Amino acid sequence: MDERHGSGSELPAAPLEDAELRALTLDGMVALAAAMLRRGLENPSSPLRKPALATVKASGAPAVRTVILRSVDLATRKLGLFTDARSRKAAELGAEPRAELLFYDPACDIQLRLSGRAEIRVGDEAAWASAAPPSRRAYLVTAPPGTPSAEPVSGLPADVAGIIPSLERMEEGRANFAYVEISLTEADIVVLSRAGHRRARIRFQADGEHAEWLVP
Ligand SMILES: Cc1cc2nc3c(=O)[nH]c(=O)nc-3n(C[C@H](O)[C@H](O)[C@H](O)COP(=O)(O)O)c2cc1C
Repeated sequence: MDERHGSGSELPAAPLEDAELRALTLDGMVALAAAMLRRGLENPSSPLRKPALATVKASGAPAVRTVILRSVDLATRKLGLFTDARSRKAAELGAEPRAELLFYDPACDIQLRLSGRAEIRVGDEAAWASAAPPSRRAYLVTAPPGTPSAEPVSGLPADVAGIIPSLERMEEGRANFAYVEISLTEADIVVLSRAGHRRARIRFQADGEHAEWLVP
């Protein structure tokens, strides 16, 4: 995915109308996918900032949850997420790296599904350095996420609850911090319109990306 495409290189503010839909090329579909990821990264209040991450449990059942999009590299087709190394999703991705991310923008009615393979890097230095202090604090939680509790709890130690602790104190959470890097293998994008829908698949391969139209 790159920024070469003219048509559709910006994210529309509303669902596409008839003429815009007819003008949409395959390159335009690829550009829309890239624009969605850029918007998610650049605009913290966009729903595209918070995709759903799907993994596979050991039983073969699906598992899905909201995550925050932390990094996007369109040139290498890699996305980055933060998570707790003790979380269920980290274990699931460790055992089965295939994952999907679902993005949906209600303003323009466009859905983007990304498939890829995840690599988990516990304590990753560059990612940890890029994490804002409120994000870092979450990794001081003492018991693993999902541990049952007899009462409502934040899980944070008493000395850091309700405050942003010193950088030094937060460093103690770094062993629980994991950077999840997802190398994309495929994208599936659906553009909904009253004029008729459009759908395309983009395969990311060693020799480049290959896009094709699909019946929506
Ligand atoms: C808006 C929102 C954003 C979230 N972002 C993240 C995130 O970036 N990373 C993460 O591990 N969990 C995030 N969560 C929590 C997860 O959705 C999930 O509840 C938690 O990580 C436990 O998931 P698991 O048991 O499947 O590992 C977020 C939750 C919400 C509601």
